[in-house]
This record gives sequence, structure tokens and C-alpha cells, in this order.
Amino acid sequence: MSDAKIIDGKAFAAKLREDITSEVTKLKADHGVTPGLAVILVGEDPASQVYVRNKGKQTLECGMNSYEHKLSPDTPQADLLALIAKLNADPNVHGILCQLPVPDHIDEQAILAAIDPAKDVDGFHVVNAGALATGGEGFAPCTPYGCLMLLKDTLGDLSGKRAVVVGRSNIVGKPMAQLLLKESCTVTIAHSRTRDLPDEVRRADIVIAAVGRPNMIKGDWIAPGATVIDVGINRIEGDAGKMKLVGDVEFATASKVAGAITPVPGGVGPMTIACLLNNTLISACRANG
Ligand code: GUN
Repeated sequence: MSDAKIIDGKAFAAKLREDITSEVTKLKADHGVTPGLAVILVGEDPASQVYVRNKGKQTLECGMNSYEHKLSPDTPQADLLALIAKLNADPNVHGILCQLPVPDHIDEQAILAAIDPAKDVDGFHVVNAGALATGGEGFAPCTPYGCLMLLKDTLGDLSGKRAVVVGRSNIVGKPMAQLLLKESCTVTIAHSRTRDLPDEVRRADIVIAAVGRPNMIKGDWIAPGATVIDVGINRIEGDAGKMKLVGDVEFATASKVAGAITPVPGGVGPMTIACLLNNTLISACRANG
């Protein structure tokens, strides 16, 4: 078996951001509207700080307004809810995102529920999760939506394909399964209690790995020719003690068997922010007829 095609998420995301930038330019010229994204970060988690910085930078590069709200780790929940209420009412803000995880004293579900579903560009509000499950118009979560774009670009029509989603989180696994079901895939959700995970993976035409465990899915679990989308971003110690990023799939072995595979980094990662900007653009268009 020859080596898998490498799915270039970095290039795909760059093209998507270019298209978004053109649409933003048109929206400004035709309607005098500049899409605006508000990002809230509570605390000083280093990984979250990097994500928030990148979101702000790419928002501006696409011609949108970026509003960053950095709050101290001990911010009371009531203050955070008050900020969200203010952003909900602000017509210049089309998207609101509270970076997760939030500190332990804050109830994550209460925060997500407080965001106006029409501005919930993360797609985490129960109204948007419900819309995704029932076929309504809402926002799909950015990482699974980015995975779906890469899959369609690689395979075209997904109808009838067997897909296994490894991981059942609200952010990736569950919405990913809903999106694949909408594309008429036969979907299995596997998780930590799945009895024979290698066997489930072996039967799939499409494998989505979203468990957060470095190199867990091995090449000999993959069906020859399958398409593998690796959502994992795990930091591990590499050669000479240097930290490196690896996915949930053991790339060296899986790329010998798969038909196509996303690398880590440069696969799914860049798609998440591009899809966030896409959702913000959609929200601004909906708000302005
Ligand atoms: N933390 C990790 N991924 C995400 C994401 O997509 N959105 C938010 N808000 N927080 C996250």
C-alpha cells in the first residue's frame, strides 16, 4: 500500500480565510457593516492564551473587529454573566465566545446558556446543539465543522460511508456524529467504554479521532484506504527532551495504511479558527438581512 494523501488543513484554512475576507469587504461596502467577534478569557491558562491571541489576530486579518475581554482568574460568575448580557445587547458584536475551560468556581453550562444563541458562534448553546440534531438553522461547532469540510473536500459525497467517531465530548465527538449523520453516513460513536475499539475502527471508511490521548490509534486498526481525521493536539516529549505536538493517531503507522490522513500540526487545528470566523460572518449577515 502506498502512503496516504496528506490532507493539508493549513492550506484549506488559508483559502477559507481569503474567501471570508472578500465577503467581509463586500458586507462593509454594500451594508456598512463590519462583523465583530468578542472573545472572553477568564484566567491565565497558557494554552488558552495562545488560542485567544491567534483568534484575535486572524479576526483582524479578515477585516473584522475583534473585542478581547481578559478577566482575572477570580472573576465572580455574576460579573462574567453581566459582561455576556452587555455583549448580547451590543449590535456591533455578532459573535461571542467564552474560551473553555473556565475556572472551577464558574458553572460552564450557565455561561454557555447565557450567550444569545444568535451570537453563539462556538455552537455550544443547547439551542444550537438542538438545531444541529433536528435539522434547524443554527451554528455548528467549529472543530467538527472544519473536519467535515476537509472530509468533503477529500471524498466528495459521504453518503452511505461508515464513520467512526472516537470520543464523545460536547465540543467535538457528539456534534461531529450529528454532522456525519446529516451527510447520510452510518455513524458509530466509540468512547472509553467501547468493548473492542480496534475492531470498531477497522470497519470504518472514515475515522475521526477526538480523545486527547497521544498516538492511541494504531496503523493496524485502520482499514486500508480509509480517511483519517485526527483532532488530537497533544504535547509530548520528543527527541532530546524537546516538546512536540502529536495527534491521537500514530501517524507513522497510520499513514502507511490510510487513503488520506490529516497531519498534526497542520491538519484540523487551523480549520477551527477559520470556521469560527465563518460563523461570525454568517451571524453578521443574518443580523443585517
Ligand atoms: N477550548 C478548546 N476548544 C475550544 C473552542 O472551540 N471554543 C471555546 N470557546 N473554547 C475552547
